[in-house]
Amino acid sequence: MRALVCTRLGVLELLELPDPVPGPGEVVVAVSHVGLNFHDTLVIAGQHVVKPEPPFSPGSEYAGTVTAAGSEVTSIQVGDRVVGNEEYGCAREFVVVRADRVTRLPEHVSEAQGAAILVAYATAYHALVQRAGLRAGETLVVLGAAGGVGSAAVDIGNLLGAKVIAGASTVERAALALEYGAHETFSYGDGDPKQKIKDLTGGADVIFDPVGGAVAEAAVRAVGWQGRYLVVGFASGGIPRVGLNIPLVKGSSVVGVFFGEFVRRDRATHEANLRTIFGWADRLRHRVHDVLPLSEGPRALRDLAAGKVRGKLLLRVPG
Ligand SMILES: NC(=O)c1ccc[n+]([C@@H]2O[C@H](COP(=O)([O-])OP(=O)(O)OC[C@H]3O[C@@H](n4cnc5c(N)ncnc54)[C@H](OP(=O)(O)O)[C@@H]3O)[C@@H](O)[C@H]2O)c1
Repeated sequence: MRALVCTRLGVLELLELPDPVPGPGEVVVAVSHVGLNFHDTLVIAGQHVVKPEPPFSPGSEYAGTVTAAGSEVTSIQVGDRVVGNEEYGCAREFVVVRADRVTRLPEHVSEAQGAAILVAYATAYHALVQRAGLRAGETLVVLGAAGGVGSAAVDIGNLLGAKVIAGASTVERAALALEYGAHETFSYGDGDPKQKIKDLTGGADVIFDPVGGAVAEAAVRAVGWQGRYLVVGFASGGIPRVGLNIPLVKGSSVVGVFFGEFVRRDRATHEANLRTIFGWADRLRHRVHDVLPLSEGPRALRDLAAGKVRGKLLLRVPG
């Protein structure tokens, strides 16, 4: 099979590897689409909390068809269309994975759509529902709202009945979030993010933050009484420092979100979340930036790291 391989940190090559064979409890999936995420650029650079030793394939979500099942597999059959997510290892023609880590795709969801929404939408849903307990009518502020998980949080927040206020680094980037269902937008590239959020919300019920850095240090002060601040990521590179006096005086919570670990520890809730998300498939407003062949993977990941991508970038396999 052909596989995109990180041969040393920061270096990607397309290599020919032996086809995998499933062990007990495992299935082989012929991958048709790989969804790329900012996460992959961090893993390739050795900057993620997950640090695989090269050689490894990047790519943390895929869709495809099961072509072989090992002994003891009863939940999934050869021929099933499935999606799955791993920390890395998906950008290749075949993946071998534990059968209890794949989810059958409903008929009305294409493999391209499955690979485009899995990680971003399931992260946003888990963050907003299980971690923040977002309720209809509450005010949700999404930072990095034009990006991958941010745009999914705007879309899901809207479907959950929240009033969604989308923030981004520029007015133009913030305006993109209107496509995903944001009710109002603001830019935090100029002026004080705390004051802007307070002016728009009077104190947010929930803030979803995949950006981190200085904007996070300001925004955490704009949470309202008993609000929830979701720590999703640090795309800006800076890990914010927050004084614990802030949650005290606001009765608020700073809540961590770790999607990969949640999926490992609570598969049943993750599967229930996916049923809800796939049930909304026709209403989701996700946007595909481009679908490129596997051989274009190195360029695709460079574009992603450089912030040139507007929407989801997919790799088509084989290709
Ligand atoms: N906790 C979890 O379980 C979980 C799950 C998925 C992702 N994440 C994390 O969430 C973060 C975002 O992931 P994503 O896939 O949504 O990425 P993305 O689409 O590339 O980036 C999200 C946004 O971050 C902002 N950004 C990116 N680079 C920046 C920089 N150098 N300085 C300032 N702002 C910058 C951009 O905002 P503007 O458009 O406004 O410029 C961008 O739209 C990553 O750190 C990822 O690892 C965490």
